[in-house]
Amino acid sequence: MIMGSFTGRHIIDTADLSNEEILYLVDTANAIQNMGEKALDLARGKTLATLFWEPSTRTRLSFEAAMFNIGGQVLGFSEAQSSSVSKGETLADTIKTVSQYADIIAMRHPMEGSALAASHFSDSPIINGGDGAHLHPTQTMGDIYTLFKEKGRLEGLKVGFLGDMLFGRTIHTLARVLARFGVEMTFFSPEGLNIPSYVRADLEEKNATFSEFTDLEPTALKDLDMLYVTRIQKERFFSEEEYLRKKNSYVINRKILENAKNDLLVLHPLPRNEEISTDVDALPNAGYFRQAKYGLQMRMAIIASCLGRI
Ligand code: CP
Repeated sequence: MIMGSFTGRHIIDTADLSNEEILYLVDTANAIQNMGEKALDLARGKTLATLFWEPSTRTRLSFEAAMFNIGGQVLGFSEAQSSSVSKGETLADTIKTVSQYADIIAMRHPMEGSALAASHFSDSPIINGGDGAHLHPTQTMGDIYTLFKEKGRLEGLKVGFLGDMLFGRTIHTLARVLARFGVEMTFFSPEGLNIPSYVRADLEEKNATFSEFTDLEPTALKDLDMLYVTRIQKERFFSEEEYLRKKNSYVINRKILENAKNDLLVLHPLPRNEEISTDVDALPNAGYFRQAKYGLQMRMAIIASCLGRI
């Protein structure tokens, strides 16, 4: 029995969720969309804190919109400088304090493991909105929801990942979930930005079918059902020169997509730089803004479930 099992739970990594629980959240997201105005009762009287030590547009604003859409209230900060962190307050003290004010906390922090550490000090559920180059579980749940909405299934899909596999936290969480559902994966990344060893070990342990390439041959797209493109992340590089060498390794445009299936779904967690040309945006294949909407709907399901309201 899944219902109620999320109440009070932290969401730090998708590895903490069973396949059954992942599918339950997909069903819950659908159910909330069918509730109409009744959805406004789901978080009535509850408060979400969004604590963002790193920049964000989609994750923070979609968490806040999700909370408003289910009738709750929101407080928080969007940069460390506007909080007492700028006066030297620790993560632990910040979390201990804010968990006195909020029923649930969504946070993003540049340090790997920060959300897990925060969960040890919090009286309220902690939702990891990205910890450094490590994990981004609610992005992954939104991506899984997107695949169900757009492709109707996970099993049997062929998925390509393109860009920065090393620092791409959205890839680290998504690939490990897709491996559990029998999705075949191909990773395209510049030399030195390939999937980290802990992700590779996890895929091998799950007997996932996957391959890795540095070159993107146009024919490589021909069998794919979904292509997940990511930005080369300037903020994760130690050297500007190295970033400049790698930043435009791949560019997806209309011409390249002529080699793909007609119904190839192109996703991107966003923000993008130049890795997807804007000439792709008007194609039905461009799913990345729909993906942002599904991410919002999934966050409504996650908040309502962790609050024990559904
Ligand atoms: N996808 C994502 O995490 O976007 P933001 O950095 O804008 O939150």
